[in-house]
Amino acid sequence: MIKNVLGIETSCDETAAALAADGRCIRAGVVASQVLLHAPYGGVVPEIAARQHVEQLPLVMARTMKQAGAAWNDLQAIAVTYGPGLATSLLAGIAAAKGLALRLRLPLIGINHLEAHLYSVFLAPDAPEWKSVLPLTALLVSGGHTCLLRVAAPGEYQRLGATLDDAAGEAFDKGAQLLGLGYPGGPAIERAAAAGRPDAIKFPRGIARQKHSLNFSFSGLKTALRYYLEKIPRPIPPDRLADIAASYQEAIVDALTIQALRAASRTQTATLAVAGGVSLNARLRARLREAAAAQSLRLLLAPAGYCGDNAAMVAALAAAGRGLGSLAAWDLDACPNLRIGV
Ligand code: KG4
Ligand code: ZN
Repeated sequence: MIKNVLGIETSCDETAAALAADGRCIRAGVVASQVLLHAPYGGVVPEIAARQHVEQLPLVMARTMKQAGAAWNDLQAIAVTYGPGLATSLLAGIAAAKGLALRLRLPLIGINHLEAHLYSVFLAPDAPEWKSVLPLTALLVSGGHTCLLRVAAPGEYQRLGATLDDAAGEAFDKGAQLLGLGYPGGPAIERAAAAGRPDAIKFPRGIARQKHSLNFSFSGLKTALRYYLEKIPRPIPPDRLADIAASYQEAIVDALTIQALRAASRTQTATLAVAGGVSLNARLRARLREAAAAQSLRLLLAPAGYCGDNAAMVAALAAAGRGLGSLAAWDLDACPNLRIGV
């Protein structure tokens, strides 16, 4: 285990840094969100994101060190997300990490963003040691990825299923756009759904059609929403909008819950870990808790503050001994399409 790792995360539109004392204890973490800058465009604009990372990173890193009350000399390693993500955004973080590691003569550790999301469930104060709950089934649900994994050991990931088209977060974002609810769509749909009935409209579930498949498919759901909206008069009354949002959310939540539980039962694992931006969704968390209890599964959810993109998960994973690279890894490059599992 490495002590005092500074983690850097810039894979998409959050500029983040965090200092992990070890694999479990986060001394400080700062996330500078760019949501307001991208909102007018209805999605992330890569050029704006990369420029913001370059501008914000020095501030975000300095603020992290100050918050932790740490000196640069206290650090033992620099960890950075090297993929998957937007190429230019990843490069901004990697360049900063290399500069810092060179200047401080520290090891540079490359971290897979998806593996970091998975590890975030172990940042909950009451989380078990990860070796004590292996093998486990993991559901990663974010804006760019939706996949199910069997985790045999740290670094040993078997892909059980994944989305064939849109990620769950993308389905929330595109649905919110169709409903005129703004960006990012997940929180917007969740808010709009609060007063609605989840069973008001029967939208297709985001489950791939092939029998026994553990894959997802959310593009049909989005199209079903578009057709539904074309048929109803405008303006949409608030109670109807709430019903549509709640039913749309339910179709996504239902698919994620059903497939995750199916995967856990098929792989006969006793633990289900769920992480990524979409795992912040309260309805998803409630449905997973209910379903896991019924199947006597141990459910590990990422703490709310570590569901979305953050650097604590990056720093902690590196401190726990995972990650690519060493003192010699100066050729570390961005891998926009990096995967997890085979
Ligand atoms: O993990 P994340 O922050 O970034 C990626 O690695 O993609 O996930 C972002 C995604 C977005 O699509 C956003 O709409 C979704 O997570 N999201 C939510 C909620 N909060 C964020 N989806 C559903 N309900 C939420 N409360
Ligand atoms: Zn992410």
